[in-house]
Amino acid sequence: GLKIVTIGGGSSYTPELIEGFIKYHSDLPVREIWLVDVEAGKEKLEIVGNLAKRMVKEVGVPIEIHLTLDRKEALKNADFVTTQFRVGMLAARGKDESIPLKHGVLGQETNGPGGLLKALRTIPVILDICREMEELCPNAWLINFTNPAGMVTEAVLRYSNIKKVVGLCNVPIGMEMGVAKLLNVDHSRVRIDFAGLNHMVYGLDVYVDGVSVKDEVISLITDPEKSITMQNIHAMGWEPEFLQALNVFPCPYHNYYYKSGDMLEKELKNFKEGGTRAEVVKKLEDELFELYKDPTLAIKPPQLEKRGGAYYSDAAVRLIHSMYTDKRDIQPVNTINRGAIAGLPYESAVEVSCVITKDGPKPITMGELPVAIRGLVQSIKSFEQVAIEAAVTGDYGTALLAMTINPLVPSDRVAKVILDEMLEAHQAYLPQF
Ligand code: G6P
Ligand code: MN
Repeated sequence: GLKIVTIGGGSSYTPELIEGFIKYHSDLPVREIWLVDVEAGKEKLEIVGNLAKRMVKEVGVPIEIHLTLDRKEALKNADFVTTQFRVGMLAARGKDESIPLKHGVLGQETNGPGGLLKALRTIPVILDICREMEELCPNAWLINFTNPAGMVTEAVLRYSNIKKVVGLCNVPIGMEMGVAKLLNVDHSRVRIDFAGLNHMVYGLDVYVDGVSVKDEVISLITDPEKSITMQNIHAMGWEPEFLQALNVFPCPYHNYYYKSGDMLEKELKNFKEGGTRAEVVKKLEDELFELYKDPTLAIKPPQLEKRGGAYYSDAAVRLIHSMYTDKRDIQPVNTINRGAIAGLPYESAVEVSCVITKDGPKPITMGELPVAIRGLVQSIKSFEQVAIEAAVTGDYGTALLAMTINPLVPSDRVAKVILDEMLEAHQAYLPQF
């Protein structure tokens, strides 16, 4: 049987993952799941870990659930290591979201200044985990969910010896599910040619039973009522002529780039009314953990669907399942480009449709991106590369460069003001600076 290790196991999302492993158990013989967390997450780990134990017991699948604060102990001989940790927890996210907003810049935890600071905090930790994996489970696959997932994956590819890494996000599967719902067809009939970066991915074409439905999807989602989005992103629909001319299917995070002004306004309004998304999520999480404590609860409670991570378990478990069984089906993941998308670096992480095999994802060649989107994708990739370099070196000038070249930041002066305030606020989690 397989040994799975989940770092950040105290996350409120853990029941998602457990549900997935239970669902696939007949095809994916998981023997042990080790949920790992840090001292500050101990209480959450115990609560959600006990729920996980009840969930497997309830359905009688023979999966052992282990809870530990000892990461090295957990990593020994792991087959798959999944990461879903958040350095500094939701309090740090609140700062990522609110500090830029005070200076009139979009506060978001994976794009713009928020994404940069999250990368600076997270990359040193993932590189530590990679060093431990080299020693304790050199043959394991690292499946990274930790945001910013694209940058974290690329940091592993470029700055560690772990080559067996896949970055995963629920945005692409959410787009597939959204299309299925919109067209009222089963999810299995929908296929999308994905190309781009994490939270910057496009559907270059969309098919139902092998027939392109891209034009129909593009025209439907211009209606805000029919827009395909996630719980954490307020979608407003699109100008029909704009989207038709763009001629590809954007992801929900493109709202931040093609509607920056409107999104900023909306976020400022939310901020005044109910706080940032971090505060909304904190309330949801407190409610969830109250539910998780109930000793009679042995399923994933439906309230978890208010989080942005819908279909997280489906994405994670279908990936691990296809790798384990060498299924060779097509799934969108973050992996080394190797020329699949022209115009992006060979060694960079890209989010692209891949054939999933036992020896990892094999990206499908997407060629050149349409000219209208190529520049933005390249520009975000430059930002990501510079951000990763800043995280690894702790160099201030490099961090300021990353902040300034991000398209959501209006000037070098504003970049510096925000960076200084954020470096100060996150000092405890930025030993390299
Ligand atoms: C989407 C993204 C995730 C992100 C989540 C935030 O699902 O793909 O990367 O973590 O939204 O959702 P939350 O409920 O935490 O705001
Ligand atoms: Mn994501």
